[in-house]
Amino acid sequence: MKNIVIIGDSGHAKVIVDIVDAHPDMRVYAKLDDKYDSQFIEDGIIKAPISNIESLFNQDATLKVILGIGMNAIREKIIMTYDLSSEVFVSLIHPSAVVSPSARLGVGTVVMPNVTINADSLIGDHVILNTGCVVEHDCVVGNFVHISPLAVITGGVHVGEGSHIGAGASVIPGVQIGKWSTVGAGATVITTIGDRETAVGNPARVIKREG
Ligand SMILES: CC(C)(COP(=O)(O)OP(=O)(O)OC[C@H]1O[C@@H](n2cnc3c(N)ncnc32)[C@H](O)[C@@H]1OP(=O)(O)O)[C@@H](O)C(=O)NCCC(=O)NCCS
Repeated sequence: MKNIVIIGDSGHAKVIVDIVDAHPDMRVYAKLDDKYDSQFIEDGIIKAPISNIESLFNQDATLKVILGIGMNAIREKIIMTYDLSSEVFVSLIHPSAVVSPSARLGVGTVVMPNVTINADSLIGDHVILNTGCVVEHDCVVGNFVHISPLAVITGGVHVGEGSHIGAGASVIPGVQIGKWSTVGAGATVITTIGDRETAVGNPARVIKREG
């Protein structure tokens, strides 16, 4: 049995719990969140501030960790703050997801129900592929990206580190999306989006550029 520690205990973590529960060889062992001041047990699950992670590993070095936080920048901050080796992270794939045998997934990535990842796509670390999204063939998805429910990135699209593709958005083949950018819900992206830009609409237009 793999004991899973979820970092984060809000909405996104609830969906992660369902994915863990869909695997008979895994169980949720602890949920760590800085909304908790001290450690306690609720319904058989340890709840504690994130800084308790070290003491949990001292008790059980076989624990596996997943980041249950939807905000890309906060997932990155947790990785920068806590000195956890990449081997402690588990990737979670819901049994209903379809993942090509030639696709590659990094560590700590979550693949939610009804996701499709097609041939030769490369998915980075601590990525969220949210419910029902499609990553077509030959895509490259950077670390800490979140592709929201029902979004479609078509063949050969590159999504840079930390970017967020909104719910139901579409990106046409071969388009590049920069780092830490945002594509609004329902957008249709037909041209390159730069780093730290926000684009919305059909066709998508940049409405914000951050330095
Ligand atoms: C794109 C987005 C991040 C912009 O948020 P924001 O920076 O707070 O921007 P604002 O709400 O101030 O909107 C700025 C303008 O863009 C428009 N706009 C915002 N989101 C839009 C969208 N998805 N499609 C079309 N227009 C949009 C607003 O109407 C507004 O237009 P105006 O200046 O003419 O009034 C947000 O609206 C969005 O779509 N987020 C995706 C959420 C999502 O899919 N989450 C999934 C979680 S699982």
